[in-house]
Amino acid sequence: MIGVFDSGLGGLTVIKEILNKLPQYKIIYFGDTARTPYGTKSAETVNCYSIENTKFLLEKGAKIIVVACHTASSVSMPILKKTFPNIPFFEVVTPSFKKALRLTKNKKIGLIGTRTTVESGIYNRLFSQADPSIKLYANPTPLLVPLIEEGWLKKPETRRIVKKYLIPLKIKEIDTLILGCTHYPLIKKVIQEKAGKRVKLVDPSEEIALEIKNFLKSNPETAKNLEPDGEPEIFVSDITPNFEKIAQLFLGRKIKLKKINLE
Ligand code: DGL
Repeated sequence: MIGVFDSGLGGLTVIKEILNKLPQYKIIYFGDTARTPYGTKSAETVNCYSIENTKFLLEKGAKIIVVACHTASSVSMPILKKTFPNIPFFEVVTPSFKKALRLTKNKKIGLIGTRTTVESGIYNRLFSQADPSIKLYANPTPLLVPLIEEGWLKKPETRRIVKKYLIPLKIKEIDTLILGCTHYPLIKKVIQEKAGKRVKLVDPSEEIALEIKNFLKSNPETAKNLEPDGEPEIFVSDITPNFEKIAQLFLGRKIKLKKINLE
């Protein structure tokens, strides 16, 4: 089984891509809807949650863990790898960084994401190690998650807010923009429109799915251990009728949520 976790239901955008590229494996997902959002919390708190989420997925039989949440990927990877040294982990930051590095021509890259993701400084570290001449311009965009969860994907208010958030990045003439949050693929068209045609977008959900596919190709033993396909199982730590609606929005189809209690 491929285990995937997120702070809530946004990570279903990642599941959608994994199902596209790797339909032959069963997926088990945990969305921490009781404690969402992670993007406004401290790294310390997010780390505790990430460890608990991983334990839950491993107990359910996951053999590899996908951290779909950009915030958790930005801050929790060192502690996760230390706590579970034998588990293959995938996260959204590294493949997004690599893709942006390949795409940029003028070496001016933009990043939007939650405050905790932007403030973690993870992308600054990665880019300056890879190529010190790259300039990263990052802007936290905290209003986008609630707007997307409200289903306001194309509303004028959403367009105006996206435009406003992108102005400081456009002024810097970025040619590549990392969509550093699970939710943003849903408003990719609006972001593209406001960023301008010239700017190439990096969608982490596509990049992580490709990375897992390549890993399983070169690690057939791990691939053999993954259970064959079946309906994805979606666990959440809290359930409301609205969560079911949001899940459908992200996955693009109706899906049953199962509530669990984390110890
Ligand atoms: N899943 C989070 C992320 O990708 C967004 C929602 C939250 O703040 O928890 O950063």
